[in-house]
Amino acid sequence: MASFMDKTVIVTGAASGFGKATARAFADAGARVVVADIDADGAARVAKEFEQGIAVRTDVSDSDSVRTMVDSAVGEFGGIDVLVNNAGMPHRSMPMLDLPVEDADRMWAINVRSVFLCCKYAVPVMRQRTGTSVVNVASIGALRPRPGMTVYNASKGAVLTLTRGLASELAPDVRVNAVNPVVAETGFVKGAQGVDRIPDDVRAAMVAGIPMGRTADTQDVADSILFLASPEAGFLTGVCLDVDGGRSIQ
Ligand SMILES: NC(=O)c1ccc[n+]([C@@H]2O[C@H](COP(=O)([O-])OP(=O)(O)OC[C@H]3O[C@@H](n4cnc5c(N)ncnc54)[C@H](O)[C@@H]3O)[C@@H](O)[C@H]2O)c1
Repeated sequence: MASFMDKTVIVTGAASGFGKATARAFADAGARVVVADIDADGAARVAKEFEQGIAVRTDVSDSDSVRTMVDSAVGEFGGIDVLVNNAGMPHRSMPMLDLPVEDADRMWAINVRSVFLCCKYAVPVMRQRTGTSVVNVASIGALRPRPGMTVYNASKGAVLTLTRGLASELAPDVRVNAVNPVVAETGFVKGAQGVDRIPDDVRAAMVAGIPMGRTADTQDVADSILFLASPEAGFLTGVCLDVDGGRSIQ
């Protein structure tokens, strides 16, 4: 695993799930980590585990809040090397025509507006350093949409287009990549299914379509994010890496 010694990394949505595992993996690799989440208590609990970590209550859909997040990173650690745009949410799984407009709008702001805002305010700071990169957390659903999650999947399609467009705008200064995770049992499940754990029959149907025979672990996603942010991926930009156990092969 690459070293991120003396690097400063912002991970949004880092109080839970993929973000928490990613923040921990960067901290284990020597990074200074900004744990940014709308859940202030959760972020504080995660940051407390790290030798060099701070928690910043952040609503990624709000410009002032995102600016405060960037200012906090610079104030505490002097700059930014890696930005992981991970914070996101599903809507409740249902036919698109039944989805309440306000649910769709809120989700779109958290999944898409957030990537625009975080890049808009963090990238000018990142450009002051070399070897910097952004990693966005999209979803394999953007490429292989299932019924019930249409607007969510479209929001992740927008994240992929932001990734590739921004990659070409920022090269060669700042690399921009994305990961496309398959389903994982995180806080996301509650939002999508309304229950804490995926029901056994639903999980079995999902796993049947994943050649590797299981759902994703948070560590699978964290490892892929660290790779994309590492010097070993120094020639990769605009890459949208499927972390899906092979789900998208067929
Ligand atoms: N779990 C899955 O099956 C799955 C699959 C593909 C992609 N994803 C994506 O992975 C990312 C992480 O989700 P997760 O599965 O770890 O879910 P999670 O619910 O465990 O974590 C999401 C985190 O984002 C935070 N958050 C929500 N709204 C926020 C806001 N406005 N500002 C800042 N933080 C906010 C939450 O407090 C939480 O800590 C999301 O973008 C999600 O869409 C999840």
